[in-house]
Formats: sequence, C-alpha cells, structure tokens
Amino acid sequence: MRFDIITIFPQLFDSFLDASLIKKAADKKISHFKVHNLRDWAFDKHKKADDRPFGGGAGMILKPEPLFKAIKAIRCKNKKTNTKVVLLAPAGRPFNQHMAKNWLKNDQIILICGRYEGVDARVEKIIDEKISIGPYVLSGGEVAAMVVMEAVVRLVPGYMGNPASLNEETFEQDLYEYPQYTRPESLKVAGKNYTVPKVLLSGDHQKIIVWRQKHRRKI
Ligand code: ADE
Repeated sequence: MRFDIITIFPQLFDSFLDASLIKKAADKKISHFKVHNLRDWAFDKHKKADDRPFGGGAGMILKPEPLFKAIKAIRCKNKKTNTKVVLLAPAGRPFNQHMAKNWLKNDQIILICGRYEGVDARVEKIIDEKISIGPYVLSGGEVAAMVVMEAVVRLVPGYMGNPASLNEETFEQDLYEYPQYTRPESLKVAGKNYTVPKVLLSGDHQKIIVWRQKHRRKI
C-alpha cells in the first residue's frame, strides 16, 4: 500500500515518518510514503499555491491548477492500481475504524491536505472522498492525514507483531477494550494501594475470557 501526501508544509511529516511503527512499515516495505510539496506544481515564479476567494471573505484558499496537476502526476498510471483520492477537510465525512479497514483494498491513497480557509471547490470534482477526523477546525489537513495514515497502516497485513490483538482491540465487535494491567501486581501511590484484579493472575484462561468480556463497554 502506498500513501502520497500533497501539502504546502511537507516538513510537518518529517518526524512522523521517521519514527515508531510507521518507519518500521516503510523499512519493511509494507507501506510506502511520499510527501509532495504542492508548490512544485505552482506555475508562477513565486510558486503560489493559494489565493484570495472570489466574492471576498477572510483568508486564502488553495488554487485548483496545482492540485489538478499534482493529482495527475502522482496518480499511479497502471490501470490495475486501485487509487483513492482523499481531501482532508473539517466538513468531510467523519473518519472511523470501519473506513480504515475498508481503505485496505486500495493500492494507493492520495491525501490532499487542505489549508487556510479551504480549497477551490472545483477540486472536489476529482476527489473520491472528503474526510474529517472530528468536529473541530484545524489550521490544515496535515495532522488529519497523519491520523488516517496511522489508523490504516497498522491494519496492513504484516504490520502488527501479533495480528490476534487487532481483533480484540477497541472498536472491533463495536465494544471498547477491556482494562489491561502489567507489572507490578501491587502499586502504592500517595499512600493508596492499587492492585491488579486477582482473576488476571490466576492463570485460568476461561475465567480471564469471561472477566474481560464482562469489563468491555459497548460503544
Ligand atoms: N482540516 C481542518 N480541520 C480538519 C478536520 N477536522 N479534519 C480533517 N481535515 C481538517
């Protein structure tokens, strides 16, 4: 699976792509990530990717031509490649775990990070989906792009050390995760003792399954 990110702030992705499991996925060639600077497709000498809105109003919006050109250049030319073009914007469809799973069938996902007050509306003609990561306004789609990439990449086969843990986690079966504990068994904080539920130390797998099922909350 391959992610192409179109942004006017490519440097925002440096540390995200250079650490943790995302880097491991890239190193293992499970996923590929490429960040593209939208200004590279701007035609004027100042490499201007944004402009004032017709009709007036506050702020700047992303120009259409650089985005049209960028998508055309980045889209995989092989007809068999299943490419999805996604615009990240606060007015988009709310992203969720089911969508993350569904996106696994794509070979290439192009993520357009909107900026400023928005994107020229004609760009919506050539995108497949407009996605929001929540009911709040960020100053751009960059953080949202990182959120959706992380949610999708960790589901790509071969990414997780223990694939069974994917089925048990939050949102699978529409239930939240059960509480988890690790060492120490007993913890003293500010004079209070916090202990691990005895059943988890019992070694009785059947009882542990029942306890965990009981302690999962419905979404
Ligand atoms: N860009 C600005 N706000 C956003 C949001 N909530 N989700 C996705 N992209 C955004």
